[in-house]
Amino acid sequence: MQVTGSVNVNQVRTVMPIARSTSPSPWHSQRPLVALAPMEAVTDSPYRRLVRSIAPKVILYTEFAPARGLLAGAKRVWDMVHFEELERPLVVQLYDNVPEALGEAVAAVRERYQPDGFDLNMGCPVRKVANRGAGCGMMATPDVAAESVRRMVEHADGIPVSIKTRLGIREKSEVVDVVNACIEAGASQATIHARLKADRPRHPADWPALSAAATQIDVPIMGNGDIWTVRDAQTMAALDGVDGVMIARGGIGNPWLLKRTWQALAGETVDPLPDREEKARVAMEHLRANVADKGERRGVLELRKVVRNYIKGHIDSRRTWMRIIEVETMDETLRALEAFAHGPEDDSQRENTETAQDLVNTEPIDI
Ligand SMILES: Cc1cc2nc3c(=O)[nH]c(=O)nc-3n(C[C@H](O)[C@H](O)[C@H](O)COP(=O)(O)O)c2cc1C
Repeated sequence: MQVTGSVNVNQVRTVMPIARSTSPSPWHSQRPLVALAPMEAVTDSPYRRLVRSIAPKVILYTEFAPARGLLAGAKRVWDMVHFEELERPLVVQLYDNVPEALGEAVAAVRERYQPDGFDLNMGCPVRKVANRGAGCGMMATPDVAAESVRRMVEHADGIPVSIKTRLGIREKSEVVDVVNACIEAGASQATIHARLKADRPRHPADWPALSAAATQIDVPIMGNGDIWTVRDAQTMAALDGVDGVMIARGGIGNPWLLKRTWQALAGETVDPLPDREEKARVAMEHLRANVADKGERRGVLELRKVVRNYIKGHIDSRRTWMRIIEVETMDETLRALEAFAHGPEDDSQRENTETAQDLVNTEPIDI
């Protein structure tokens, strides 16, 4: 079945805000519209490069970076927005509760890196962010949200600016007014995470509410929340008002989901699921990229957080995982993955929502 969802470039509605980007927006020019979500401590440059090597056309986002951290020159924060050319189209995501700081941070990042877009995080529910009126907290003050977008657009010098929100803080309809205020202020696109602020990550995303909101908003909308399989992505993309999909947890340690989703939405033949050799090969590549960027100790530890996702679904997945968490060096980790690559010809694999969800190791961060 060819599924292209409601994507139709000709139907992308345009509203002329006060300042409009002059660059081709990735959200207007890319069809199908498929993105890997911004995820703190996950979508760093090594992982984005890996995803790019497998899924050449999806839009990539940096982890969210605090605007004032950038302005203070914090190296750790600047590292978050650094990217390589091959990562394009690449969107830098920022958060803060001070519109002027967001504007100035956009100018600073633009001067250094010229990303393909800037995104304002209005979805993070973590207390230390949201209670200060940043992240999802900004949904409570549409005027501050709009002013933030206005400042960002002013300083973006034609680079398009988007927003990523939730359905609301308390009511699932809140998103419409907030997003429309941001569009008036110059936002080119919105991504809607189909949950409320207080919803736990296991709370099912509310796709009908997402669609109801999306139909009332006149810029390209990416739907986000609970895309674990290609079929999920097809269903989400076919919702009324939804122009594309943004994949978060389902894409951790699973760059193939991004590629296969893109293929399905483009009406192309979808690659088979990767076999164990391919999974091991890519996990090894991820490890090497981590170590090259961050040094051996950190690179190995960070791979551990996601490696279960790469190797799930096989008879020796657990054994391999136990081995990997025991060892501390890159060589030993590579050997464990090598052994996995040549493991028993076993169980057939299938995309299994529950399995994928159960194995995603995202406990420490709940955005
Ligand atoms: C580990 C982790 C880190 C996240 N970091 C960010 C972030 O930096 N910026 C952001 O907008 N959302 C962040 N999110 C939220 C995701 O982008 C996404 O909105 C959410 O996980 C819902 O999508 P899903 O159900 O497909 O996982 C994060 C989510 C996770 C699991």
